[in-house]
Amino acid sequence: MAAAVDGEEEKEQKLEETLVQRVERITGKRAHPFLRRGVFFAHREFDKILDSYENGDKFYLYTGRGPSSEALHLGHLVPFLFTKYLQDAFKVPLVIQLTDDEKCIWKNISVEESRRLARENAKDIIACGFDITRTFIFCDFDYVGGNFYQNMVRIAKCVTLNQARGIFGFTGEDHIGKVSFPPVQAAPSFPTSFPHLFGEKRDIHCLIPCAIDQDPYFRMTRDVAPRIGFHKPALIESLFFPALQGESGKMSASDPNSAIYVTDSLKDIKNKINKYAFSGGGATIEEHRKNGANLEVDVPVKYLTFFLEGDEELAQIKQEYGTGRMLTGEVKGRLIEVLSGMVDRHKKARAAVTDEMVDAFMAVRPLPQMFS
Ligand code: TRP
Repeated sequence: MAAAVDGEEEKEQKLEETLVQRVERITGKRAHPFLRRGVFFAHREFDKILDSYENGDKFYLYTGRGPSSEALHLGHLVPFLFTKYLQDAFKVPLVIQLTDDEKCIWKNISVEESRRLARENAKDIIACGFDITRTFIFCDFDYVGGNFYQNMVRIAKCVTLNQARGIFGFTGEDHIGKVSFPPVQAAPSFPTSFPHLFGEKRDIHCLIPCAIDQDPYFRMTRDVAPRIGFHKPALIESLFFPALQGESGKMSASDPNSAIYVTDSLKDIKNKINKYAFSGGGATIEEHRKNGANLEVDVPVKYLTFFLEGDEELAQIKQEYGTGRMLTGEVKGRLIEVLSGMVDRHKKARAAVTDEMVDAFMAVRPLPQMFS
């Protein structure tokens, strides 16, 4: 994909260790493992968000999900788990966009089905533990209109079709639904899209945690922002979550064995990890004992890097496995424990989310305590 709209937007910055330490100092909390371990590895002006936060200026968080499937896999949880940490650590409001329109536009999903999936996905998101006094969840089919739509039109007028082609790769054969979508994802970056939260205030900063593949949308948004009188949204961006088959594979809804889903049973988890998780271990025990595992390509180690709590245990596993003292089966065994605990907790939390709670999170309402 080509550079930003007018070519001025630079490349994203690497999220340096010093920035992680700064987050710990400001929040008085240990940084989330995703930060400490480089899962969120890149940013745009996150340092500026911290500067203004230290000066007493407020910001809000914005993230989202395209509801393309019934069940979420573990990779889908990554931005939400991280956003929850940021919300708790900085005590700031959060808006979550469910792009039911996007998935209807891009996939073979009807408007009705996409709306249903958005509500189902909202339950999984709420199960991550968001604070209802600081969180507004909305789906586009219901919320787009009013001030939000006014911002969409302001944004749309700043981007030519040629620029959109450069950024998103649209071709003449794409239907115009696709071309019309980017302003929908851009609009939540601007506070006046949420008058019930921020009134007419234009000077509130926005921080967007997302996976790196969303960057084109926000390069466009950042380019447009000053031209329509807003701050550029800041970004904090994560690596992709690898498929069970390894970096080369892509997690796909059509292959249930490419990912662990939050709906999987203990048996599914065991079976998938033992059978499909790509191992960097030696071909034979002798070879493994001699050369150790290749940690660069080993999926169980990658998954543990995302989800194992203890830094020391992680370091120890890497050391033992990398030198061949620990075997793939043992590492997989530990991963099965960790993931089944996680999935089990998620299932319980999701079962406790009622339709009334979904309505409450999605109600268009002021959040009086959102900054405290
Ligand atoms: N386009 C994203 C997806 O397909 C959904 C999304 C909308 C999003 N707004 C966002 C993701 C903001 C991250 C941040 O899943």
